Amino acid sequence: MKKRIVKKHPLAIRWFHWINFPVLTIMIWSGLLIYWANDIYRLGWGDTTVIKFFPKSFNDALHIPFHLSTGMAFHFFFMWFFFLNGLLYVLYTIFSGEWKYLLPNRHSFKEAWLVVLHDLHIRKTAPPQDKYNAAQRIAYTSIVVMGMGSVITGVAIYKPIQFQWLCTLCGGYEAARIEHFILTLGYAVFFLVHIVQVMIAGWNNFQAMVTGFEVEKYNEPETIPEPQPDTIETPKA
Ligand code: HEM
Repeated sequence: MKKRIVKKHPLAIRWFHWINFPVLTIMIWSGLLIYWANDIYRLGWGDTTVIKFFPKSFNDALHIPFHLSTGMAFHFFFMWFFFLNGLLYVLYTIFSGEWKYLLPNRHSFKEAWLVVLHDLHIRKTAPPQDKYNAAQRIAYTSIVVMGMGSVITGVAIYKPIQFQWLCTLCGGYEAARIEHFILTLGYAVFFLVHIVQVMIAGWNNFQAMVTGFEVEKYNEPETIPEPQPDTIETPKA
């Protein structure tokens, strides 16, 4: 088995990806400071609560202070970086043609199951893939749509009077607030799955998102030796 170095991720994609990670972390952290001032969400019925978002232990564990104004200041400052970075990423993928590797195609939803079965070691072979497999295409496209959703619902609850039409589009102020919150929970779920997948895929895959290059193993095609003139058998008359 031979090895060669191949280009995998363009520089722009790597910048967008690694800028997004700390910015999103700050957005979630500052969002928690804001949410703590009025943490209304829970799963339950009547007076019975199964899960409260979030229990006191959660805030204690993350040392989330009751600093509403700090949270708002960070959230409304870093939202510009989140928005601009996301917008430039989408424009870049469109104009560079990278979208072809990212958007699910008509086979993706069927193949994603086969990828999951393969990851769970239930199926031996994984379906053939391009740069990303079917499950990745769906996940990466979803996260971009979720990002758009966060910006839209965020603007709706930030300026509900000025952007009343946007608020109405989201189903009203309360609905927009719930959607904004659920999207954040979605990022947490995506992040956990993403990190586990990155760890399973290994160092070579990870470092390619930093350097842009990946080490690829390949089989050298077997060369059939040319027959020498003195070894060619000529039929006897
Ligand atoms: C410590 C944090 C993170 C690590 C180590 C990480 C690692 C990676 C790696 C290695 C890839 C390439 C996967 C492959 O080639 O198979 C990737 C792609 C990607 N990651 Fe992350 N990631 C992190 C955080 C995030 C976050 C927070 C998001 C978004 C919420 C995200 C969204 C994406 C997307 C959309 C892609 C595809 C990029 C493209 O090719 O356009 N990642 N990540």
